[in-house]
Amino acid sequence: MKKKWWHGKVAYQIYPKSFLDTTGNGIGDLRGILQKLDYLKDLGIGILWLSPIYCSPLVDQGYDISDYYNIDPLFGTMDDFNELLEEAKKRDIAILMDLVINHCSDEHEWFKKACADPDGKYGQYFYIRDWHEGEPLPCNWRSYFGGSCWEPLPGHPDKIYLHLFHKRQPDLNWENPDLRAELYQMINWWLDKGLAGFRIDAIINIKKVLPFRDFPADREDGLSSIDHMLAAADGIGDFLKEMAENSFYSHDAFTVGEVFNAKDDALADFIGENGYFSSMFDFKETILGRTPLGIYDWSRPTPEQYKTAVFEAQREMANIGFYSNIIENHDQPRGVSHYLPDGEINETSKKMLGGLSLLSRGLPFIYQGQEIGMENIHSWNKSATDELGAKDGFKVALEAGLTREEALEKMMHYSRNNTRTPFQWDATKNAGFSSGTPWLPVNSDYAAINLAEQQSRPDSVFQFYRKLTHLRTASPYRDTFVYGTFTPYLAEQKNLFAYLREGEQTILVAGNFQNEPQTMKLPAKIKAVLLNNLPEIGALENEVRLEGYQFVVLEV
Ligand code: GLC
Repeated sequence: MKKKWWHGKVAYQIYPKSFLDTTGNGIGDLRGILQKLDYLKDLGIGILWLSPIYCSPLVDQGYDISDYYNIDPLFGTMDDFNELLEEAKKRDIAILMDLVINHCSDEHEWFKKACADPDGKYGQYFYIRDWHEGEPLPCNWRSYFGGSCWEPLPGHPDKIYLHLFHKRQPDLNWENPDLRAELYQMINWWLDKGLAGFRIDAIINIKKVLPFRDFPADREDGLSSIDHMLAAADGIGDFLKEMAENSFYSHDAFTVGEVFNAKDDALADFIGENGYFSSMFDFKETILGRTPLGIYDWSRPTPEQYKTAVFEAQREMANIGFYSNIIENHDQPRGVSHYLPDGEINETSKKMLGGLSLLSRGLPFIYQGQEIGMENIHSWNKSATDELGAKDGFKVALEAGLTREEALEKMMHYSRNNTRTPFQWDATKNAGFSSGTPWLPVNSDYAAINLAEQQSRPDSVFQFYRKLTHLRTASPYRDTFVYGTFTPYLAEQKNLFAYLREGEQTILVAGNFQNEPQTMKLPAKIKAVLLNNLPEIGALENEVRLEGYQFVVLEV
């Protein structure tokens, strides 16, 4: 495998709106990120992904871009951004922006021009169709945020446009070469500026089944999940190859795709040697327990299901490339609240979950706050579920017959705002995030869970994450963790999540994913204990006794 500059790094996702507010307006900003670069360096971070900071009406929190070439004044200025690039570079930290090119905002000038003249040049940048009241729509696809994906074109009662996400996020017409050229030009503009690459949003959606047609309805609304359309869509590779050849390759950019629904046989095309992207997120665990009926019908995975999904992802990627591994992001519940059973969420189990994820083969991404074990929102307030996904989920749940309380409980768990609450820096007002009123209330647990407290305590979750990133980036075991093979170990033993990483050394990584102790046979004698989330390890000749949620990293 050809070595790449990004292989041995640990990446970190910043959700700028909730990271650190330096102006007192309740919204995080670029100067806040600048202030914390040393902190991130100390944590062992080498790549930073910033969720969108471009100009946006923030209907979908910046994933609706109205100007790809400018920073939204809420977050700062282009000077701030340039300074961030420069300061990050000094610390050997590469910056990634979010590339949101399946759709733009309805406030983007392209869409405004399309509305002004649907038959002109910019009308071709979108999917606009003629339509008259009473006629069937071109297709029955359900938008991700609920309802039909067709909406009347403003100012044109006889026309409609396509939006797979919110109606204020019109889909861009990738079949149009002019549009594509315009996007590549924009990508190159950022890369020429010194940006290291991109996280690429919702990219699988750029290829539509054309001409538009219906797919089998999967709910009583008569609509069909976009998943059906994606399974039938062919030819996305032509677009992705063209994009890579026109921008990413020549800049040696690092790119990580948000790719749900990739076809199994396409993985090598996506992220193999000369793939469209450098990496893509492993969402095998994320989608466990989800059904097409809606959030109300979803269930949480058991530890065994979680382990099986990780092993499956590792198996399929072994000879292809590197997945990017996560336990959470800005669209998911907090990993510790989702994958650890209720009542068993504590510092020991949080360290285990983080350790299992960070030491797997692939590029680890830490989502802001994960390194201090931030949890889901504990008690409901309106803002807890006030986001596009949970709002629609709530409506669907009530329609399905759930009571208000039942529906709310479900939405509370899956609300995207769980990971969007402000970062908990310390125990002062608003967790040190803002001197004003935070745009989203701070999690009520911040007096107990905050960075300042954990920085001063050697056995904290934070200090454990530092040890994990050190193993991967700066220890003598670095190459084994980065390039070594991954082999499941004692996969049949219930709630034992263990694997071998083999390279120059052989390393056994093992977590006891339950409260009860269990013993684990050793494959060979222990040479060194590299990490342990408890003070002791019950090691005998050929086996170790693992306490509840104990996590050990052993050279054998
Ligand atoms: C991606 C983003 C999500 C956003 C959606 C539409 O899934 O991660 O936050 O709502 O795309 O852009």
